[in-house]
Parts: sequence; structure tokens; C-alpha cells
Amino acid sequence: MDKITLGPMPYMSVMPTVLVGANVNGKANYMTAGAATVACVAPPMVCVALNKARYTVKGIGENKTFSLNIPSARLVVEADHCGIVSGAQEDKSGVFKSFYGTLKTAPMAEECPVNIECKLFKAVDCGSHLLHIGEVIGVYADKGCITDGKPDVTKVNPIVLAQATYFNIGKNVEKAFSAGKKYRKK
Ligand SMILES: Cc1cc2nc3c(=O)[nH]c(=O)nc-3n(C[C@H](O)[C@H](O)[C@H](O)COP(=O)(O)O)c2cc1C
Repeated sequence: MDKITLGPMPYMSVMPTVLVGANVNGKANYMTAGAATVACVAPPMVCVALNKARYTVKGIGENKTFSLNIPSARLVVEADHCGIVSGAQEDKSGVFKSFYGTLKTAPMAEECPVNIECKLFKAVDCGSHLLHIGEVIGVYADKGCITDGKPDVTKVNPIVLAQATYFNIGKNVEKAFSAGKKYRKK
């Protein structure tokens, strides 16, 4: 074994780049987040870790709703802008054209090919960050990004975040739930 210890840190190999949408003081606001993933399958839930100081957190607290918007690589400048400027300092409501779904208070960015509308299930206090768990009320997707009724990652072209750098997705390696069948005991 040839390893070095790196100490405790919130490491993940790769993270998605999402835009968290929330109405703050009745206005749409979008912030960039990498700390987002699926939280539960039935009922469908997603989660995102947000620093308590974020303007977005104020809005989620007000309405108990938020959205996760998946930007395409072509939106990298807008996406990064929402991660370096706070809605507390500058109005970000015009960065994207907002639309609203069932919940009426979770703004979603029309330009993003996939939008996930969430009702706040729980905000878990972990320390610096609140893990916001949202029940998925609806998923909206651009018609052009769909294959066999589901968002197609090659058409969505999401932004992958690693080492403070934005990447495209790479080539597929193998089929999930299938490659393992080739395993042989060592
Ligand atoms: C690539 C990237 C990823 C980020 N990920 C997170 C995150 O997961 N959680 C978080 O609280 N802040 C994250 N941030 C920082 C916020 O996006 C940033 O502080 C933003 O200005 C907050 O906006 P708001 O104050 O309008 O809510 C990230 C920023 C960038 C650029």
C-alpha cells in the first residue's frame, strides 16, 4: 500500500454543478452549488448543503420551497457568476428567465435543460452548512434533451465540478448493473 494521509475534508471525487433557485423577498435568486445529490428514491428526494450565510437560505426558510436547475456547459459563465456574487449584494433575478411550477414559489431557470422543483422536507444543521433535503414535486426537461422519456446526459451536457474546475462529462466506461457480472473471485 502506498498512500499518504490527507486528513479530514469534505472530499468527493466529482460533484455536479447545480443552480439552487429560491424566492428571496418575493424575487427569484439563483446560487451555484456543488454539494448536491439524491437523498431518497421513494418518495423522491434530493439534497444540497448550503452555508448558513447564503442569501438563498433565507429564501428557502421563507417559502419552504426551492429548485435545483441543471445548467448545460454553454451556461458556464452564468453558472459561475451565480457562485461568486451574492443576491444580498446584487440582484440575480435577471440572470435567467424564471418560470414557476406547482409550488408557485420555487423559481426555475428556463435556460437550464432540466429543472427539479422541491418542497423542503428537512434542513439538517451540520455545522457551517444546512443540508437542505427537498421532496421532488416535479422535474421539467427541455424536449430536445430527452431520449426514451428521460433526460439524456449527452444532450443535457451538464457541468462536472472537480478541483475548482468545470469539466464536461467524459466517455462512458461500461453499463451499470451489468459490468459486475464479469467479476471473478481473485
Ligand atoms: C463552483 C461553485 C460551487 C459552489 N458550491 C456551493 C455549495 O455547494 N454550497 C454553498 O453553500 N455554497 C456554494 N458555493 C458558493 C455560493 O454559490 C456563493 O456563495 C453564492 O454567491 C451564494 O449566493 P447567494 O448569497 O445569492 O445565495 C459554490 C460556488 C461555486 C462557484
